[in-house]
Amino acid sequence: MDALAPTPLLDPPLVRGAPIVGSAFDLARDPARFFVNAYRKHGPAFRVRVFNKTYGCIAGVEAANFLTTREGRESLRSKEFWQGLVEEYGASRTLTGEDGEIHQKLRGIMRRGYSREAIAGRYNELVTITDRAIARDWKVGETIPVVTALQYMVVEQLGDILTGSAPLEYVKDIRTNILYILNCLVTRQRPKFFLWDPRYQRAKARVNELGQSMIADMQARAARGELPANLLGDIFRTHQQRPDLIPASDLVLTLTGPYVAGLDTVANTTSSFVYRALKHPEVLARVQAEADALFAKPSIDEADLLALPAINGCINETMRLHPIAVAQMRTATRDFDFQGYLIRAGQMLFIGTSVPHFMEEYFPNPEKFDIDRYEKPRAEHLRPGVYSPFGRGPHTCLGKTIADMLMPLSMARLFHKLDMELSPPDYVLKTKTAPTPGPSMKFEIRVKGLRK
Ligand code: HEM
Repeated sequence: MDALAPTPLLDPPLVRGAPIVGSAFDLARDPARFFVNAYRKHGPAFRVRVFNKTYGCIAGVEAANFLTTREGRESLRSKEFWQGLVEEYGASRTLTGEDGEIHQKLRGIMRRGYSREAIAGRYNELVTITDRAIARDWKVGETIPVVTALQYMVVEQLGDILTGSAPLEYVKDIRTNILYILNCLVTRQRPKFFLWDPRYQRAKARVNELGQSMIADMQARAARGELPANLLGDIFRTHQQRPDLIPASDLVLTLTGPYVAGLDTVANTTSSFVYRALKHPEVLARVQAEADALFAKPSIDEADLLALPAINGCINETMRLHPIAVAQMRTATRDFDFQGYLIRAGQMLFIGTSVPHFMEEYFPNPEKFDIDRYEKPRAEHLRPGVYSPFGRGPHTCLGKTIADMLMPLSMARLFHKLDMELSPPDYVLKTKTAPTPGPSMKFEIRVKGLRK
């Protein structure tokens, strides 16, 4: 045997699962824990069987950092996971499912509309919108379904920022649409025949109706030469100038996309924040004090929202322990060597970027909800690859800077205005994993009174 011949690469080890179902139940019950345990046992590459399908998985800081490398960009793509959604809308493509040059072009078009510029100078307007949502959905003496109430709040805010209007009458339909599409076509936690459910069919027709009315509005504005300088305006302008890039068939999906991207992510994260703040009295006191000081100012701006160590620490810690994207999903475009294992072309992969969030090595006492981890000198999240709530690499959240402003503003305002308690007071959070991990829809709080 030739002593210099390279050692052939091995397939990553297979996580032992139950007969027939494989790891399906463990993954559905607590995906974050599942990936951490598998990483601890097998290292940064392993395979997972879910019923009769085997997925690859690369995880940990190794995987998070790999996503940002050229090799990572060239070895992975997103297309397959989003193809079902694209087909369901009769579209040709979507931002999340593209890679390479077209993806960069689409991101370029949408960057301004999704950026912090889109809300610059509008924080006081956002406070008014938030107050309207609080007055409507968070009444004193009532028990509030937190996730639903925060979904309405975020649609109202995003609608105003990104599109100029808030389609509140469509919130339920958008939510049903997301639920079925993500479950059946993207994460595939449910079989496709669920899409025949009349509730989904109705929601799909309504979201299409919303998209068509947005298109009609843009067409009318374009005819008057008044396309707005916001996300929708930028998308429609590109459609007119570069129909090869955004054809008419893609408009409904592209124009309603911000709600799909922002609704569950923000509502789930802020719901977990509400739970955590009410669960930990010392955190609650700090959040309230900071919120009160913020709104003692005659008006607020971006710098004020960035300078909230307790509230932003609470958001960061919430996203560490309750990440909405436990893993990203990709397909291998070619055979590649990952940490000494062979990942084969065509293999569908989970990228377990949230694994380090739960590791003692990076976040000492990782189960402890500690909002002071993020300020210097500790800044535990700043080591490369350890903290990825917004994903990693070319598909990193485009709405991050908006979320970074919107979430502290909403949480500061809610805790400034209302005196709340968990309902019942000793409630322990129940979570859901489909379509995105987050608090159960049954999570409730009681509004005890007004603080301000
Ligand atoms: C708590 C808030 C949020 C979290 C934790 C979050 C998380 C993420 C993650 C993990 C990804 C990457 C998915 C992947 O790589 O497959 C992503 C992508 C994306 N997010 Fe967010 N997101 C949040 C809020 C928002 C908001 C408010 C918007 C817009 C209004 C938004 C717009 C997007 C878009 C457009 C993408 C796709 C980027 C691309 O494919 O190039 N996100 N987000």
